[in-house]
Amino acid sequence: MLRIRTFTPDDLEQVCHIQSLCFSEPYTPEFIMNLHEAHRETFFVAELGGRVVGYAAARVISFRGHIIVIAVHPSFRRLGIGMALMLVLENELRRRRALEAWLEVRASNTGAMRFYRRLGYVEKSVLRRYYSDGEDAVVFSKML
Ligand SMILES: CC(C)(COP(=O)(O)OP(=O)(O)OC[C@H]1O[C@@H](n2cnc3c(N)ncnc32)[C@H](O)[C@@H]1OP(=O)(O)O)[C@@H](O)C(=O)NCCC(=O)NCCS
Repeated sequence: MLRIRTFTPDDLEQVCHIQSLCFSEPYTPEFIMNLHEAHRETFFVAELGGRVVGYAAARVISFRGHIIVIAVHPSFRRLGIGMALMLVLENELRRRRALEAWLEVRASNTGAMRFYRRLGYVEKSVLRRYYSDGEDAVVFSKML
């Protein structure tokens, strides 16, 4: 059964592993622990049969929720896990009085863009050369 719960330090290794499978420039373990320290209530993992298969983290700034990261292990995609993580995260953002959520996505990441559109996010702007390798970011947002 799928369970969404907040991240604990015991999840670090599995989260780092998924990061390395999903991103060309994965976060360091220190960065992930900093996320946990700073945003304990808005850093969630998805657990399936006791195994961490995905995670998502956000922060609230001036009544706006910033989705910092979301990733699902490649072997567990298209099962609704990303959607389940986002819905829990958005509910927590609402609880924290965020009126809107926003995020950045690589311009080449068409799969993630479809995922966000499916969740009701709308393209707002493009940040030129936002990523360290020079790729643009597309900013999406959604009223909560
Ligand atoms: C984006 C990501 C988190 C989606 O997770 P997921 O668990 O596979 O997503 P879901 O199963 O909840 O997808 C829900 C719906 O979103 C859409 N969707 C999700 N992934 C998609 C893709 N690769 N291509 C097209 N549509 C997609 C579909 O409509 C899907 O419903 P369906 O499977 O019934 O057609 C996952 O692909 C991932 O980890 N990608 C790598 C990391 C990444 O790019 N993160 C975002 C960085 S900004």
